[in-house]
Amino acid sequence: MKRTLFTVVTATLSLTLGLAQAAQDSPSAPHATALFQQHCASCHGAQRTGSMGPALLPESLARLRPAEARKTIAEGRPATQMPAFQASLSPADIQALTELIYQPMRPTPAWTELDIQASRVQHTDARKLPNKPQWKADPMNLFIVVEGGDHHVSLLDGDRFERIHRFPTRYALHGGPKFSPDGRFVYFGSRDGWISKYDLWNLKLVAEVRAGLNMRNVAVSSDGRWVIAANYLPHSVVLFDHDLKLVQTHAARSGVESSRVSAVYDAAPRQSFVVALKDVPELWEISYAGKKAPAAPRRIQLEEPLDDFFFDPAYRHALGASRPQGDGQATAQVVDLDAGRKVANLPIAGMPHLGSGITFDYQGRRVLASPNLKDGAIDVIDLTNWQTVKTIATPGPGFFMRSHEKTPYAWVDSMMAPKAKDRLTVIDKRTLQVVAEVREPGKTLAHIEFTRDGQYALASLWEMDGALIVYDAATFKEVKRLPMSKPVGKYNLHNKLTRSEGTSH
Ligand code: HEC
Repeated sequence: MKRTLFTVVTATLSLTLGLAQAAQDSPSAPHATALFQQHCASCHGAQRTGSMGPALLPESLARLRPAEARKTIAEGRPATQMPAFQASLSPADIQALTELIYQPMRPTPAWTELDIQASRVQHTDARKLPNKPQWKADPMNLFIVVEGGDHHVSLLDGDRFERIHRFPTRYALHGGPKFSPDGRFVYFGSRDGWISKYDLWNLKLVAEVRAGLNMRNVAVSSDGRWVIAANYLPHSVVLFDHDLKLVQTHAARSGVESSRVSAVYDAAPRQSFVVALKDVPELWEISYAGKKAPAAPRRIQLEEPLDDFFFDPAYRHALGASRPQGDGQATAQVVDLDAGRKVANLPIAGMPHLGSGITFDYQGRRVLASPNLKDGAIDVIDLTNWQTVKTIATPGPGFFMRSHEKTPYAWVDSMMAPKAKDRLTVIDKRTLQVVAEVREPGKTLAHIEFTRDGQYALASLWEMDGALIVYDAATFKEVKRLPMSKPVGKYNLHNKLTRSEGTSH
């Protein structure tokens, strides 16, 4: 009797203690490693790099709070293969496992060119399938909706707002999907490093390859010949042909310093990929002009590393922010890609999310507008002299901003603000004034994308039992709502392929 009570008390104690403090009371690390091998390795891999279940490395868990990880281990995840362990493991063991998965794996797991090649799976021979859509809708007004809740993608007819198809994806897609120039194929990148090539016209998965163990995003060359991946783990950039066959890898290092890779984007008019390194102050340009495989990267030396970035409409400049760890001050800079050097600092406070910026004409000049991850502010910058035209106050820090050539309005979320995450703010691009707001009280509303003609704005009700909400882009009235499982992103094929000024590329 006494013993049972004691167990219950220690159990509650170790659950309520903070992670750091509990570490002192928890079983030893070797014990946790043994527990992992016994109970978790079969699905998450002996090296925690994932197999049937997702990778469980600190890089992979950046968006999962330890308390949630602990709950997942104890209670499992309904409707998935993740079992509940609270009946078979003690609270102290569950705590020890939670701590273990946030520790780096020692030695760091490797992922070599041989591993990449061995991971490739050919699912379908796309050359044997019809070269036209096997469904009836405008293939260019198609929306690809990423449903992060249960890891599916929905294809939506952008004229009727009806689902054409829904299919499962790899765990946690990351970065926007990218397309072949004819719009037939889409490439998805996943958090755990998988690239999946999918035939939109025949609704079939074509091929997959694992480019790394933790990946940021993928890009596809404007000529459709190359696919490239930016990895956090290992520190590498990996280039494939359009069939996802490995062509080359570049270790992301500068001298003795090794770096995570923040992002890679296609710079179509330059016929190159531009790569940002997170830990060393270099920007790389990998040219794919000409017939041969791309050559070694051209290295541009910077003062500060870039995180996400954005191109001006001519693709002459890369505009990016650094994201220092801890309390460091973020800086935003303009890099002239032709001259190969920084040419200006951007006068933006807080933490601009330039990767989600848009451009438009304001009083005869080209301006950039960018949301801010730290301040409730939209900075509007003149692209000819890099000066601030206006800072527009919004209800809170936001992540995404979108517009379209054919609408006078830009839409922005404030999803980083607990009290204002439930609204979208509509800004008139002609006056830079806030003109309207749409709300879903108590829920998270974010990520807007327009139809091909700019007449409708599609937003995400960013919840497990969420929805895609279609608004009339002129009246801001809801016209339709489709239930979806946490629709974390949606992408209009035409707007992406034409590199619409109102959306990220
Ligand atoms: C039978 C296979 C299986 C076993 C055994 C298993 N898991 Fe999982 N686990 C999964 C799957 C599949 C998921 C993804 C669930 C989903 O789709 O949300 C998952 C998800 C998780 C997540 C959430 C990851 C994230 O990114 O959100 C954690 C944490 C986790 N597992 C920890 C563990 C631990 C610790 C053990 C051992 C005590 C374990 N799992 C055993 C299959 C398994």
